[in-house]
Amino acid sequence: MKYDFDKIIERRGTNCVKWDAKFPFSINESEREDLIPLWVADMDFEVAPAIREALQKRVEHGVFGYATVQNSYYDAVIRWFERRHNWTIQREWIQYTTGVVPAVSAVIKALTMPGERVLILTPVYNCFFSNIRNNGCEVVESKLTVISSPNTQHPTPNTYEIDWSDFERKCADEKTTVFLLCNPHNPAGRVWTREELQRMNDICLRHGVRIISDEIHCELVMPGHRFTPFGTVNTATDATAPVICGSPSKSFNIAGLQMAHIICADPEARRRIDRAININEICDVNPFAPLAVEAAYNEGEAWLDALNEYLWGNYQALCAFFAENLPQLKVFQLEGTYLVWVDIAATGLSGDEFEEKLLREAQVWVNSGTMYGTDGFIRINLATQRNRLMEGLRRIAAVFNP
Ligand SMILES: Cc1ncc(COP(=O)(O)O)c(C=O)c1O
Repeated sequence: MKYDFDKIIERRGTNCVKWDAKFPFSINESEREDLIPLWVADMDFEVAPAIREALQKRVEHGVFGYATVQNSYYDAVIRWFERRHNWTIQREWIQYTTGVVPAVSAVIKALTMPGERVLILTPVYNCFFSNIRNNGCEVVESKLTVISSPNTQHPTPNTYEIDWSDFERKCADEKTTVFLLCNPHNPAGRVWTREELQRMNDICLRHGVRIISDEIHCELVMPGHRFTPFGTVNTATDATAPVICGSPSKSFNIAGLQMAHIICADPEARRRIDRAININEICDVNPFAPLAVEAAYNEGEAWLDALNEYLWGNYQALCAFFAENLPQLKVFQLEGTYLVWVDIAATGLSGDEFEEKLLREAQVWVNSGTMYGTDGFIRINLATQRNRLMEGLRRIAAVFNP
């Protein structure tokens, strides 16, 4: 393979969250030597060569004052979404900020009044809860339903679907003014189909609910699935237009560079979002971020395809391992993202207890499902070298099958 995703890279000592963060429990720091982190959502792979070259060239320049964002950034974003996702966007629809979490927060600030309700499909990315509450709004949850849906593509039948009557009931509540969607969905692993997105859109329109779609995981899509940008489902240019937040940061492993886009066809929403970005003081990006985004979108496509292939291989290896060694735990289908959702009810442990036990007894760090709003689950990040992933899984099995 042209890109070597098996290459082991030492990340300890680079001040990275995944490997160097303080342990959440009082654990002997000497255990870190042996740590296998399968938690926070970044990848242990080197970036696409074009990104590295663009950054190296900029570092060589040696002066790092305040940065502006050039037309070449907008061109790269526009061309990428046209080419890769068949979504035509206009230059003036695009705003940028320092990350998708800051983006979602600013959009909620722009589109709601304190006290209003924002609907989410849970379990969901933990920062959605704080994004909503920090803007003085109330979280309304529509819980996803676990179903068994055999699919020849997937080694496991476990997945989630939307409880449509509950979803509509929550939208009909007059205090619900915004629906915050995650597509693809972290941690449920779903890549919502066009039909599902259309149905969400119809219900939201019926009840005057505005849609914000966090599409940060949109490039991480497994074989047999296709990402549908919400902007191609709802093409309105008025107050019913969706607001899309995204970034190549997750899929191209440049999250630490901190830059995201907000795309909306409604000029009035953009005016208010611009105001919120300024109020929150998140209007400036660093000199490296736009260059990395441009290199990713303009020259990173072959690397991204190879990455998705590798991640799919990791997922299949993980499923085979669980089926053979930990059949009591239920792995979920992975349609998108590199974050695998696992039902651990059979162990009798809560997600938090499971996380702590693994870290203490196996030096493997996964995320407890409770932070996403559901207990009895864990989330495993499989974006690491396959040998390391399998070693982590062997250690998990040894804890439960001593
Ligand atoms: C759905 C979702 N949105 C946003 C983020 C983080 O975005 P950023 O680092 O750009 O703030 C993540 C990170 O895992 C995520 O899963």
